[in-house]
Amino acid sequence: MNIPRTLSYISADGREYLAPGADAARPGVLDIVDQTMLPGVVKRLHLSTPDEVFEAIKQLRVRGAPAIGCAAAVGLAVCAMRFTSSSPAEHLANIKKCAAFLDSSRPTAVNLSWALKRCVGAVSAADIAGMNQQLLDEALAITAEDISLCAAIGKAGATLLKSGMGVLTHCNAGALATAGIGTALAPIYTAMEQGIKVKVFSDETRPLLQGARLTAWELGVAGVDVTTICDSMAAQVMREGKVGIVIVGADRVAANGDTANKIGTYQLAVAAKYHNIPFYVALPFSTVDRSIANGSQIPIEQRKGEEIFHCAEAKVYNPAFDVTPRELITGFITERGVLSEI
Ligand code: MRU
Repeated sequence: MNIPRTLSYISADGREYLAPGADAARPGVLDIVDQTMLPGVVKRLHLSTPDEVFEAIKQLRVRGAPAIGCAAAVGLAVCAMRFTSSSPAEHLANIKKCAAFLDSSRPTAVNLSWALKRCVGAVSAADIAGMNQQLLDEALAITAEDISLCAAIGKAGATLLKSGMGVLTHCNAGALATAGIGTALAPIYTAMEQGIKVKVFSDETRPLLQGARLTAWELGVAGVDVTTICDSMAAQVMREGKVGIVIVGADRVAANGDTANKIGTYQLAVAAKYHNIPFYVALPFSTVDRSIANGSQIPIEQRKGEEIFHCAEAKVYNPAFDVTPRELITGFITERGVLSEI
């Protein structure tokens, strides 16, 4: 695939890592592609401070549930390498403080807190150098795992696709949203490798246009047949018989299967049900939050009104995610296969 890598760790000597093996003794940087500039400009950013990593996640320079988990993990490791702690106890306190700060950057995708908790939990060394190495190793283990989870999701989901089938997707749950080939888009890439060519409809995804700017671009670059539609056109395109399956990603799935994903997903599920079109959620198990019983407890990020076009006379309501009830979901495409229950 000809898509720029979403993120990596770059060591002090300029080597790129997506798996453990890097030496934490000399501080490296978190490398991301700035997704706010896509598709026009492919600009890479090198981040190394808590404020820089926080801002990049908050402003969606790096975005998508698995990608923000990986970015926060590598970000925590590179920040820790620069702390001027005077003792191992103080270093651990600084790591925990930084993890809590990064975790507060976005509330909905559980992968963020999941990855940070995992990294902090991996720290057990008695000395600062050892702690930094453990943090970096864990962050890169999470990144490497994400790459293989995406591949497994792709393999499982490709079994649902047939040549010529119309696939509707929302937001961007592709390579740009993960360290690997994506979640919702992974079955499309895997099917293509098997000679199965589908026709993708990519919802524009208002207000920040992840579908029009990112999904359409990454699929187009990869040679997939992709058509952009406005969010408001989805039901009509379904009625015209152009959609055989809907596949979306997820930011957090509650224990009962209720699924938070980009705002607009819920209405797609309602329309798909009405038109008898299967509606699948693709996700790694790291996106499942068993600590909450159902979707009503999933925190929904509220974003600034400026993101939505409005006149001065109008107020703005801008929730970034919605929750699709379990009963509207046909199944879950996961690294463990296509499941009817999560
Ligand atoms: O606000 P975003 O762009 O981070 O929202 C992303 C989504 O809603 C994705 O569908 C989800 O995170 C899954 S990414 C594999």
